Amino acid sequence: MKFTVAIDGPAAAGKGTISRALADHFGFAHLDTGLLYRAVGVKGGDPVAAAQTLGAADLARDDLRGLAASEAASRVAAIPEVRAALVAFQRDFARRPGGAVLDGRDIGTVICPGAEVKLFVTASPEIRARRRWLEEGGTAAPETFEQVLEQVRARDARDMGRADAPLRPAEDAAQLDTTDLSIDDAVARAVALVQARLPG
Ligand code: DC
Repeated sequence: MKFTVAIDGPAAAGKGTISRALADHFGFAHLDTGLLYRAVGVKGGDPVAAAQTLGAADLARDDLRGLAASEAASRVAAIPEVRAALVAFQRDFARRPGGAVLDGRDIGTVICPGAEVKLFVTASPEIRARRRWLEEGGTAAPETFEQVLEQVRARDARDMGRADAPLRPAEDAAQLDTTDLSIDDAVARAVALVQARLPG
């Protein structure tokens, strides 16, 4: 069975949590495609060569989660040759026989336009910045809430403003705004959406 779930949206909207929960619930494989861009960003050297030769060891690095990797990822993600080098791997993953969930920015629009389910997960910049800030320790975080909000806004502008595969919802994507939803409620809505499209 080929069954692809494409989940897109801005940083810290809840894509990762929802994707992992869907994969667990339905037994699908899960690919966090942001990790590919992060790995290219931190590898150093020519980003196009890094994307063309990306391997398992690059994806297993411990430093892919931090803010530096996320900044580097957002920059290399604007290079068309970097994006092109990562397409085949993502499309192969999407065709895994047991079903697959891919989350990123361009899964429903570019990587898997024929996905069985497309979900665009959003939340206000303020709530996304607050979640990020709390994750980093809140008042104990190295940055103020206002600084994190500024970073969220700058990253949105870069991801939505790039010429190649900008962040935007596919025309046939269902939109899920998590601003006022608990994690459990957001996951329950996504599960219901996928359930409704499953064959049989
Ligand atoms: O989801 P994330 O925060 O790990 O993504 C890091 C950066 O990678 C993000 O700023 C944009 C880029 N990205 C992308 O351009 N396309 C994807 N499918 C996934 C991530």
